[in-house]
Amino acid sequence: MPLSTPKEMFDKAYEGKYAIGAFNVNNMEIVQGIMEAAEEEKSPVILQVSKGARSYAGQNYIIKLVEAAVENSTVPVVLHLDHGDSFELCKAVIDGGFTSVMIDGSHLPYEENVALTKKVVDYAHERGVWVEAELGQLAGIEEHVSAEHSVYTDPNQAVDFVEKTKCDSLAVAIGTSHGAYKFKGEPKLDFERLAKITELLPGYPLVLHGSSSVPQEFVEMANQYGAKIGGARGVPEDMLREAAKMGVCKINIDTDIRLAMTAVIRKEFHDHPENFDPRKYLGPARQAVKEMVQRKIRNVLGSSNKA
Ligand code: G3H
Ligand code: 13P
Ligand code: ZN
Repeated sequence: MPLSTPKEMFDKAYEGKYAIGAFNVNNMEIVQGIMEAAEEEKSPVILQVSKGARSYAGQNYIIKLVEAAVENSTVPVVLHLDHGDSFELCKAVIDGGFTSVMIDGSHLPYEENVALTKKVVDYAHERGVWVEAELGQLAGIEEHVSAEHSVYTDPNQAVDFVEKTKCDSLAVAIGTSHGAYKFKGEPKLDFERLAKITELLPGYPLVLHGSSSVPQEFVEMANQYGAKIGGARGVPEDMLREAAKMGVCKINIDTDIRLAMTAVIRKEFHDHPENFDPRKYLGPARQAVKEMVQRKIRNVLGSSNKA
C-alpha cells in the first residue's frame, strides 16, 4: 500500500473517538517492530522522524526503510517529520516523499510562529502534504527546543492561529511533556482547556506530544540490569484514552519505545555475556518494540481494527 496522508485516518479517528499512534523511528528494528504490531492489530500508524533521527540515519535510509515497510503492508502508514524547526527542513522532507510534516514554531513569538507555519503550509499544500503546527510550549527538553516550564495553549489564540495559518492539525500544551520525567507530583492534564479548544474548533484534529506512559516495569527492569533511571514518571494510560475521546487524533510516543529497547538489551547483555552477535540482542529489542506498540494500540489509542 502506498504511503497515506493523515486526512482519512484523522477523520475516522475523530468520529470514532480514538487516536492514531505516532511512533518515533530511527532504525530498522524500530520500524519493523512498529509495523508488526500495526499489522497484527490492523491499526493505522504514523512513523515519525525527528531532525535528530534524520541526521542519525540519513534521510535516504529512513525513506528506503519506510518504503520497504509499506511495500507489503495492509494498514495505512503516514511518514511524518517530527518537530521540524525550519522551512528548509520541511521542504527537504516534502521533496523526499514524506506525506506529513510538523513545523514547530512554538518557541517563537506568536506572529513569527504564524508566519513560519504559513510559509510551510503554502509549500506543503501545493504538494498534497499535511501540516501539523504547535501552539503553547511543553516543558522538558527535545534536541532543538527546550522549555523549563510549560505554557499551556490559549484556546482563543488556537482558533486565530488555525484561521491564519490554515495548518491541518495542532499540537496543544495541556500538561504533557517530553521525556521520562513528566510529573513531580500527581500526574495531571488540563482537560478543561482541552474541552474548550475542542469546543472552539469542532471537528479539528488535535495532537498530544509527550505522551509516553513510562511503564514502571520497564524502568525497574532497566535499573535491575544496571540503568540509573530514577523518579521517571509518564502520563497515565487512562488519561490519554480520555484525551483521545476529546478531539485528540494523534498521540506521540518515543520514550516508551526507548525504554523497552534499553531494558531488554540490558537484560540480554546481563544474561548472555558470552554473546557478541548483535542480532541476539536486537532481535529481542525489536520484539519489545512490537509488544510496547501493541500495548499502546490496545490500552491507549483504541485503534485496533480501524485500518
Ligand atoms: O519530541 C522529541 C522526540 O522524542 C524525538 O527526540 O530529537 O532526540 O530524536 P530526538
Ligand atoms: P515522549 O517523550 O513522551 O515519548 O514524547 C514523544 C514526542 O512527543 C515526540 O514528538
Ligand atoms: Zn514532541
